[in-house]
Amino acid sequence: MKFLIALCIMILWTCAYTAMSRTLSEPSIVEAHQQWKMKYGRTYTNSSEMDKRYQIFKENLKYLVNFNNAGNKSYKLGLNPYSDLTSEEFIATHTGLKVPRHLSSSKKGSNTIHFNLSDDVPTKFDWREQGVVTDVKNQGNCGCCWAFSTVAAVEGIVKIKNGNLISLSEQQLLDCDEQSYGCNGGYIETAFNSIIQSKGILRESDYPYKENDQTCKLNGQIAAAAQITSFAHVTSNDEQQLLQAVVQQPVSVSIAVGEEFQSYQNGVYSGTCGRSLNHAVTIVGYGVNEEGKKYWLVKNSWGESWGENGYIRVLREGGESKGQCGIAMHAAYPII
Ligand SMILES: *[C@@H]1O[C@H](CO)[C@@H](O)[C@H](O)[C@H]1NC(C)=O
Ligand SMILES: *[C@@H]1O[C@H](CO)[C@@H](O)[C@H](O)[C@H]1NC(C)=O
Ligand SMILES: *[C@@H]1O[C@H](CO)[C@@H](O)[C@H](O)[C@H]1NC(C)=O
Repeated sequence: MKFLIALCIMILWTCAYTAMSRTLSEPSIVEAHQQWKMKYGRTYTNSSEMDKRYQIFKENLKYLVNFNNAGNKSYKLGLNPYSDLTSEEFIATHTGLKVPRHLSSSKKGSNTIHFNLSDDVPTKFDWREQGVVTDVKNQGNCGCCWAFSTVAAVEGIVKIKNGNLISLSEQQLLDCDEQSYGCNGGYIETAFNSIIQSKGILRESDYPYKENDQTCKLNGQIAAAAQITSFAHVTSNDEQQLLQAVVQQPVSVSIAVGEEFQSYQNGVYSGTCGRSLNHAVTIVGYGVNEEGKKYWLVKNSWGESWGENGYIRVLREGGESKGQCGIAMHAAYPII
């Protein structure tokens, strides 16, 4: 029954959507905004806030309807919980990567591993099928993608090496990595170092996510659920090197998020990028779609309502050595 209702809502939603893309009249946009607010439980505190959000929603909707109608792209945009935010607001509150100065130049970090290219890598690979990836999480209104990205990579290597898939604590990094800036952004390098210095990382359930910076609650000894010994950078601007790393384990990567990311719905993303690396995510696989487009399978931390159940497929080997939106520029993985 529940399933039928959900199905009906989905069909109505799709019809409303298709009709709307033909007309996009003011009443249809008002109606779409109403439906969207109900679907995501969004409320506004007063009428001026409501008007402001409606205008932003309208601009976002027009953009994505026009985009999808153009119809010749390998990815689609759609409404999601972030559809009433401007791209500036969204990027300011939902990303949060900082890149160490010496690494943002072309110089390599001292701990960069160079893989010997192996010919027998599979044409597609998905760490989720190996049970190595936890459910998609949601950083919410806090610029701590750096914690989510590194934790997902640690969860991966812990399962691969120790056999247990354990959801680990981003909040520990948020509170205890003193070289990062909590919800105001942080470094994947210092996040890994913080885990090493703390002698491990707690379970998510023992140190749950609060969506804001708090004081570090580790006092000396911790009941660590997992430990790492070090981390390594992947040779930058080389997607073949990145591929070798991903076959080995899930890898923490950086991307330059541009405005279309916010509304990404499905497909292989080859759209707008930001000017610099501003978001950290985790590559958990790769593949080739029906049209022969190669992609990286990327776990994001914007909840399951965004993208393909929380994931995005990002164009792979699209011709730029730095990768689509710089995805091959700054990658690292933890070592046990
Ligand atoms: C309406 O709500 C917004 C957001 O909560 C707030 O910033 C603004 O001051 C409010 N305006 C009025 C007139 O109350
Ligand atoms: C896709 O659309 C763009 C913009 O309308 C156009 O410039 C481009 O040639 C189209 N590409 C194909 C393959 O149809
Ligand atoms: C690459 O191959 C060389 C020679 O076989 C070996 O010494 C080296 O450890 C390999 N590098 C990696 C990263 O596996």
